[in-house]
Amino acid sequence: MSDTVWWKSGTVYQIYPRSFQDSNGDGVGDLRGITSRLDYLAWLGVDAIWISPFYPSPMADFGYDVSDYCGVDPLFGTLEDFDALVAEAHRRKLRVILDFVPNHTSIAHPWFAESRASRESAKRDWYIWRDPAPDGGPPNNWLSNFGGPAWTRDAATGQYYYHAFLSEQPDLNWRNPAVREAMHDVLRFWLLRGVDGFRVDVIWHLIKDEGFRDNPLNPAFVPDLPEINRFDQVYSCDRPEVFDIVAGMRAVLREHGERVLIGEIYLPIERLVAYYGENLTGADLPFNFQLLSTPWQADSVAGLVEEYEAALPDGGWPNWVLGNHDQPRIAARVGEAQARIAAMLLLTLRGTPTLYYGDEIGLNKIAIPPERAQDPWERNEPGHGRDPERTPMQWEDAPQAGFSTVEPWLPLSTDAGRRNVDELRDDSGSILTLYRRLLWLRRDHAPLSTGSYRTVSLADELAGNLFIYERFKDDACLRIALNFGDRSQRHALPDGTTWTVLLSSRSGRSGAREAGSLELGPNEGVILAPVIAG
Ligand code: NOJ
Repeated sequence: MSDTVWWKSGTVYQIYPRSFQDSNGDGVGDLRGITSRLDYLAWLGVDAIWISPFYPSPMADFGYDVSDYCGVDPLFGTLEDFDALVAEAHRRKLRVILDFVPNHTSIAHPWFAESRASRESAKRDWYIWRDPAPDGGPPNNWLSNFGGPAWTRDAATGQYYYHAFLSEQPDLNWRNPAVREAMHDVLRFWLLRGVDGFRVDVIWHLIKDEGFRDNPLNPAFVPDLPEINRFDQVYSCDRPEVFDIVAGMRAVLREHGERVLIGEIYLPIERLVAYYGENLTGADLPFNFQLLSTPWQADSVAGLVEEYEAALPDGGWPNWVLGNHDQPRIAARVGEAQARIAAMLLLTLRGTPTLYYGDEIGLNKIAIPPERAQDPWERNEPGHGRDPERTPMQWEDAPQAGFSTVEPWLPLSTDAGRRNVDELRDDSGSILTLYRRLLWLRRDHAPLSTGSYRTVSLADELAGNLFIYERFKDDACLRIALNFGDRSQRHALPDGTTWTVLLSSRSGRSGAREAGSLELGPNEGVILAPVIAG
């Protein structure tokens, strides 16, 4: 597959549909709302949208508990609305990626109703049922990712079912070929409706240890971590048999041409890269979440990039992520000034970037009063909830920031009157302008979208919090210099070359010529192109 295939050269923008645009005045975003904002996304310069789940669901986990894989929840609209969204997106050359949630269904899915009805049910083995331990307790020590045991006893048959998340989200049994077939048919249903790929929810969870062995204690556990971290998840996920499952999904996608398979995988780099599969038959893009946890310093980030680049299999295409609906906002983690450096990093590293809606307007952590908490995780384990990063998109200085006509399901930021698309789009110094310029620069410069990567920083520059690298393709080369600190820094440019500043995170510097050495202001990043003589 060539380097110019869309999911390699393009950028992905994640939409959390509850929070993007409400079109029917119920305080929750919907599909028609998304369609009405496609012009914005085309203007911004992204290439694909990934939409978090909008399928029928009791919403115990806000749509990650699916009760019908082939429909649209009335809260979000109808299948006709979905078809219109795809048509309108494609008309603007925007690809559409869906969220596929194959690890578990909702407890309300008809398959589970049938499975739980009796031990003899034809669908009993579609889920994971086990007898109680000899003391009557859960079959093993596996924990739910949202706290508490991962097993719930079902009174009807006296057995326990396994759920890696809420008890309302029973895990499917992917060892059963009938489950695989049914789920492949779900992929085909959406592929035939024109979707361009899938982001697969918790793909590394799909197969569990056949012997259901207890997970070992995690020696690094400290009590302020979520309870799931008490144990190393070595038997409940990331099992070798999972690669066959991933390859099976990928094969279904390839029946339909250039579609992309993105896998959600929270694992260290050496385990993560295994998900490209043998001879790249696995996920096209195993999500690389390393930037979410690496200390925000030039040396750590440079070390991460080197390690990741070195670990990639031959031909494996990289990708980078700064945020999603499960993680604190990047601006909350690194601060407003560094959020701009983060944007430059995300959009100039080698590999497909995924942007999270709202990061382009610098949305920060938004305080959620306890009585407005929505996330079930917050109720189970206070302080770990994900509501602060799921608040509505802010479009204009209007009631409800143009998101809705009524009070939204989660609050807006207190500065929504100025932190919104309308206010920021014409401000040359805004973070939105920076994102847009970066996105268009990527499109215009092949070294950025598909070129190779080389670290340039010297050890003393890294120690001074300066990360410098180059992207190059054929004869073209761009140099990126990012100041991760709040003090000015100097970078010695190679002798005899004059450079033009293509873009700086500081306004007013673009177009300037630099030679000899480059002075970077606090928290400043620049992209330089050599001036070709003649
Ligand atoms: C990962 C999703 O991103 C998250 O939001 C969800 O709660 C869990 N998977 C369970 O589906």
